[in-house]
Amino acid sequence: MNRTIFVITLVTALVVGLCMAATHAATQGPDNIDIFGGQSGKVPFPHAQHQDRIKDCNVCHSVFPQETEAIRKMKEKGTLKPKKVMNLQCIKCHKAEKKTGKPHGPVTCKSCHVK
Ligand code: HEC
Ligand code: HEC
Ligand code: HEC
Repeated sequence: MNRTIFVITLVTALVVGLCMAATHAATQGPDNIDIFGGQSGKVPFPHAQHQDRIKDCNVCHSVFPQETEAIRKMKEKGTLKPKKVMNLQCIKCHKAEKKTGKPHGPVTCKSCHVK
């Protein structure tokens, strides 16, 4: 291969790779999110850790979209009942994992909600 063509190909590949990496990071959402928890206090949530472990985004995102503050917005519109995500996703899974003796997330109020 001609040396110039080789360099151009290499640079193009690098730029395309970087763009793909940036898009990927953007659509994954933040690594850590403070979920709106009303008067009980916000819920610090390790998003990336759950993505790594669970793989299927729809385990959670079938109930609310992949958007900033999706849960709070849906509650305000009346399309999501308060505590539904908490009880049917977060706590349900943590309790099930605890039962099997595997590593699990918190199950008590104050280990999730912080003021
Ligand atoms: C264990 C549950 C869970 C899983 C699995 C999950 N997410 Fe999320 N995701 C959340 C929660 C909770 C929020 C925050 C919603 C809110 O703040 O109201 C969120 C928010 C997001 C956001 C918006 C972030 C922001 O603030 O802009 C994106 C994008 C996102 N998720 C992408 C993904 C992708 C892609 C996957 C799969 C690889 C995934 N999520 C898997 C629970 C989950
Ligand atoms: C595994 C983490 C977790 C645990 C444990 C937990 N919560 Fe929550 N809670 C959340 C999340 C996330 C939300 C926001 C989503 C929702 O409303 O389903 C929430 C929402 C709430 C809300 C509704 C807030 C609002 O105004 O919309 C109340 C009230 C609440 N929790 C009380 C409690 C109490 C009381 C306990 C203990 C019995 C508890 N929570 C245990 C994560 C947790
Ligand atoms: C399908 C199962 C599943 C769902 C749904 C789920 N979790 Fe978890 N969560 C886990 C497991 C498993 C761990 C333990 C991870 C570990 O130890 O590596 C965990 C750990 C955690 C931790 C502790 C992290 C740490 O490093 O100490 C928090 C906080 C947490 N989850 C909050 C939440 C909240 C809030 C929700 C709901 C939006 C949620 N989880 C939904 C499975 C789940």
